[in-house]
Amino acid sequence: MKAIILVNPYACTEQEAYQPRRIAEELGFLGVEVQILKNAWQGDIGGGFQVPACDFAVCLDKDKYFPRMLEAHGIRLFNCARAVELCDDKLLTMIALEGKVPMPETIPAPLCYKNGSEVENEFPAERLGYPLVVKECYGSLGKQVYLARDREELFSLQKKLCLRPHLYQKFIAESAGRDLRVIAVGGEPIAAMRRINEGDFRSNLALGGRGEKAEIDGEIRTLCRVITDALGLDYCGIDLLFGREGYLVCEVNSNAFFGGIERVTHVNVARIYAEYMLRTVTST
Ligand SMILES: Nc1ncnc2c1ncn2[C@@H]1O[C@H](COP(=O)(O)OP(=O)(O)O)[C@@H](O)[C@H]1O
Ligand SMILES: [Mg+2]
Repeated sequence: MKAIILVNPYACTEQEAYQPRRIAEELGFLGVEVQILKNAWQGDIGGGFQVPACDFAVCLDKDKYFPRMLEAHGIRLFNCARAVELCDDKLLTMIALEGKVPMPETIPAPLCYKNGSEVENEFPAERLGYPLVVKECYGSLGKQVYLARDREELFSLQKKLCLRPHLYQKFIAESAGRDLRVIAVGGEPIAAMRRINEGDFRSNLALGGRGEKAEIDGEIRTLCRVITDALGLDYCGIDLLFGREGYLVCEVNSNAFFGGIERVTHVNVARIYAEYMLRTVTST
């Protein structure tokens, strides 16, 4: 068996290098010949596309173009390009999950074509109450997630973000600075970690949150199954908020880093994912 692992050409941190290295190692232990490739520059559209010789590809990047080209040539991708696209855009994720899982009340921002367009006086997002969460649809590590404490902050965020897709969301106060990160492989939760940040409402490890091993219960199992099926995922990291009546799905990461959760839970995520991929390609 031969596999390629696609990585972003600009990836340069140790955290970014860890994921492909570990998956390559684990696939190697299972007898798979692995090549790590940049997820770009691999062939021109309309100028001849040389399909890499492989039985499957592991996509560790959110860039969809080369993965789409591979899929058009029949290569099985983990995760498939559609699933990555749905997760990359927080609103598309929520729309795909609407009616299937509990989520915080969310209002999409209208598309704005001109910079400096007049801010509306009646702002429908205000019905969510203050403070309210403002998020860019594309973002990670908590960096594109903001809190508007009053109308002034809301308007200044709206101004700043108007040309970028974004959303307004009910602030789940019970969950401020706390959430649950779950890694699911093939719809099964394999590791869970509570993330706690005393200094910020965003619990991301990248923003100073710390992780603690958490138990996996039946509610988590059901959510993982439903989310995985709805989005067509093989692998994901799901962020759950602690709502008054149970978990609320915050977001789904198709390309979740697993180094941090491995350290906290001692689960070998890379091995479980490698075994799953091999099982899947050999059974189809
Ligand atoms: N509606 C919300 N209410 C309370 N906290 C939230 C809400 N949305 C996000 N957060 C906090 O912010 C963090 C980052 O938000 P998230 O949507 O996961 O974006 P990112 O992709 O940047 O991780 C979450 O892990 C959670 O701690
Ligand atoms: Mg998150």
